[in-house]
Amino acid sequence: MKLVQQDYKPIGVFDSGYGGLTILKSIMTELPQYDYIYLGDNARAPYGSRSYDVVYEYTLQAITHLFSQGCELIIVACNTASAKALRTIQQNDLPLIDSSKRVLGVIRPSVEKIPQYTSNGHVGVLGTTGTILSGSYPMEIAKVSNNEILVTQEACPMWVPLVENDELESVAADYFVSRNIQNLFEKDPQIDTVILGCTHYPLLIPTIQKFLPSHVQLLEQGPIVAVSLRDYLNRHPEMEQICSKKGSLKLLTTESVQNFEPRASLFLGRQVKAEKIQL
Ligand code: DGL
Repeated sequence: MKLVQQDYKPIGVFDSGYGGLTILKSIMTELPQYDYIYLGDNARAPYGSRSYDVVYEYTLQAITHLFSQGCELIIVACNTASAKALRTIQQNDLPLIDSSKRVLGVIRPSVEKIPQYTSNGHVGVLGTTGTILSGSYPMEIAKVSNNEILVTQEACPMWVPLVENDELESVAADYFVSRNIQNLFEKDPQIDTVILGCTHYPLLIPTIQKFLPSHVQLLEQGPIVAVSLRDYLNRHPEMEQICSKKGSLKLLTTESVQNFEPRASLFLGRQVKAEKIQL
């Protein structure tokens, strides 16, 4: 067993697969000084249509592993896991594991920005079946907007498999993306802002833009989460000081590295090495 260095306190970033790399990339651009460790549970992705119990169990395993690697702060860069597991982990598990550690999600920071983007109060949310059925977005948006924003949702169960299988600009991608966007606007033609409520979806932006009405604003989470993390660290100097700052990046996957490395390199825009782990 490899021992973890005492002073290595990377910020952990977790996703079911590759999607969280879109968040990691934005965070590393905004805050390049910290050490990062990314964990993609690619062997078990997608999480989108799995039950609450299973998403919770997988997410807790991933978080426990990241804590064992020295993380004090973890970003769950997955909406499905943020919607279905985060609250239980924050409320029930963290106090038992170590109450000084923190696990943050991606839904709350994304939602906080929505009121400043929409001008007519009609917002669309695209996400996995799990995220949409959880009702997390409408619930959180209602809180930040005093119930003044009308939220219309559309589950896009085929989009994560398209991204995981590198079908980004294909006939299949065109078919599923156009169908879901059409469904969303049939439900509310007045939508002026759409949030990509899944960290895989930014990879589909060129295809999404082909079918989205041109006046509609498209919000992706990476830059929003990165700024929100910067603010969080400013507000929590005790956590900021603990996080180690050598600018390193370590990538872990539950799939084979032969599969993971070329795709991760593409997502991050540079050649990267990964390590296979078992959860
Ligand atoms: N990136 C995850 C999300 O943000 C994808 C979930 C999945 O694995 O289906 O929801």
